[in-house]
Amino acid sequence: CRAVLTLRVSLAERSYPILIGESLLSDAALLGQHLPARDLLLVSNTTVAPLYAERVRAALGDRRIVDVRLPDGEQYKTMEYMQRVLDVLVANRFGRDCVVLALGGGVIGDLAGFSAACYQRGVAFAQMPTTLLAQVDSSVGGKTGVNPPGGKNMIGAFHQPSVVFADTSTLHTLPLRELRAGLAEVVKYGLIFDIAFLDWIENNVDALLKLDAAALAHAIHRSCELKADVVRRDERESGDRALLNLGHTFGH
Ligand code: GLY
Repeated sequence: CRAVLTLRVSLAERSYPILIGESLLSDAALLGQHLPARDLLLVSNTTVAPLYAERVRAALGDRRIVDVRLPDGEQYKTMEYMQRVLDVLVANRFGRDCVVLALGGGVIGDLAGFSAACYQRGVAFAQMPTTLLAQVDSSVGGKTGVNPPGGKNMIGAFHQPSVVFADTSTLHTLPLRELRAGLAEVVKYGLIFDIAFLDWIENNVDALLKLDAAALAHAIHRSCELKADVVRRDERESGDRALLNLGHTFGH
């Protein structure tokens, strides 16, 4: 039987679960349990949507699901493309009880999350990260936003998701370069917080690169656990959370 690892980000009334495992995005019972809304906005991009949007739609069968597909790339993480998302929410007259689903990597998660933070002064959103980097970092902790011209993440909000579905099967379509970028982030958690975990990564790097489901699930689980602990202590980055930015300015 398929294992689903679960952990909780503890933030009082903003607490939420992170679910990690294979084929979560086609699990009708699991998605249904965590997404009680009738109206859902599925935000994705033109690379990820053809791969995964249909299975999410099928798993959520009886809901009203409206799709928005943005072009793929960091250059589209802007107010202009966020406006498109907001326009679709308004045009469909979605109420405060809708849920925005962010299906994609960090760009989609940040932009969809910020749209959810602004629409009707804040509606729920669920993260469905499809890159390793998003699964271990950007989908967890509630940083959302867009880039202004010439800047990065300077417009945004802290808005925690209501649930994170880290489906390890989606990593099978991820380019190797992006898999490595995610692994570098996993290594970073080991380096900063947990030397035993760093040893484990070293011993399991082949399994991780071969996308072994159990190894990936463990790596994502431990990384999220370490990040969730930092976020719990310093949700709005007035202290320790800044440690997590190590290396991020070099990545772009
Ligand atoms: N990616 C750094 C943070 O979430 O704080």
